[in-house]
Amino acid sequence: MKKIKILAIETSCDETGAAILEGKSGSKNPRFKILANVVSSQIKIHALWGGVVPSLAKREHQANLIPVLKKTLKESNLLIFNSEFLIFKQIQSSKFKILNSILEREPELLKQFLKFIPAIAVPKIDAIAVTSGPGLEPALWTGVNFAKALALIWKKPLIAVNHMEGHIVSVLLKQNKIIKFPAIALLVSGGHTELVLIKNWLNYRIIGQTLDDAAGEAFDKVARLLGLPYPGGPALAKLAVKNKKVPDFKPRTPSAVRFPRPMINSRDFDFSFSGLKTAVLYLVRKLPELTPEIKAQICREFQQAVIDVLIAKTLKAVQKYKPKTVILGGGVAANQELRKQIKKELSKKFSKISLLLPEIKFTGDNAAMIAAAGCLKAFKKMFVKNIKTLKADGNLKLG
Ligand code: KG4
Ligand code: ZN
Repeated sequence: MKKIKILAIETSCDETGAAILEGKSGSKNPRFKILANVVSSQIKIHALWGGVVPSLAKREHQANLIPVLKKTLKESNLLIFNSEFLIFKQIQSSKFKILNSILEREPELLKQFLKFIPAIAVPKIDAIAVTSGPGLEPALWTGVNFAKALALIWKKPLIAVNHMEGHIVSVLLKQNKIIKFPAIALLVSGGHTELVLIKNWLNYRIIGQTLDDAAGEAFDKVARLLGLPYPGGPALAKLAVKNKKVPDFKPRTPSAVRFPRPMINSRDFDFSFSGLKTAVLYLVRKLPELTPEIKAQICREFQQAVIDVLIAKTLKAVQKYKPKTVILGGGVAANQELRKQIKKELSKKFSKISLLLPEIKFTGDNAAMIAAAGCLKAFKKMFVKNIKTLKADGNLKLG
């Protein structure tokens, strides 16, 4: 059995994350122990603009990475300050030059890096994992450059992790969870809606995906047109739940009573949510007044339309590929109705299949899931060959 300690960095969107995790490779399933998991959210900043602003996200990651790293090292008891003599010795001039070139587009981060990193002892970790995509490219680059600089100065191997792979393994952060293969993952986040067939560890095939908006994106857009605050998904879900007892709203136009379930009967495993968003828009435009009751009913019906399609397509994929495990991952996996209904429908039709849901705290973006995915890669020695050439890729695909 192998045992390794990984430091992970996550900056793909609007959360600056760092985590340290210990992974043990078992005979079949790995085991993880989280030593620290720190997330610094930028929600308040982006809320002012009604959505994530990439340049602001990058600026915030630059400012937050060192404080987040410091907290992570401290929480995992790996923060040791150096003596003055060692500080002087640590960054040699040759390395300083490379460091400057790696962090040249992150001046604020470089400033903080040069102050903090030489002041601490090299932490006892075995490797550094970083999200290299998909996500907002400027934001991703800050994390990638930071991880490169740390790997270089601390002489640690670097692991590039796909953010969606992190969402898949987020279900393993709960103690004693195991994945039996083949597995199917329904990944629902702000940028992605995917059905992934997983034949074995690190073996992914996307069997279906959204043709336009992602599920989380649809939640956010509909929330916005209903005047709900950012981030829209949780706000919309809250309104839908709170008003469950309100009788169904009956607008005058019969076609507006229900929203469509786009592509629910299509033969493939793909999704489309932009038409659903447009249906909500047309209804809102037609209404003489958007009362709180009507708003709540729209939230409920919209949420149910998304859930119906997600579950129908997942069950269809289960029917075809006969997996032993179904995994739900991504920010939208925090939706309580989705969790409840997928559990119910799956156990009704396929009682032998186990459903793995991530803990709510691991549904949103975090570095613990990136560290877990990094561990899987480290066990297979899948390190970045040449640190300097690693690139952030906003459109990185699984598989
Ligand atoms: O995975 P994530 O944190 O970031 C990306 O990788 O995109 O997902 C964020 C998405 C947002 O669209 C957010 O509105 C949505 O997840 N979300 C929810 C809920 N909580 C977060 N959508 C529906 N219901 C929720 N409870
Ligand atoms: Zn995500």
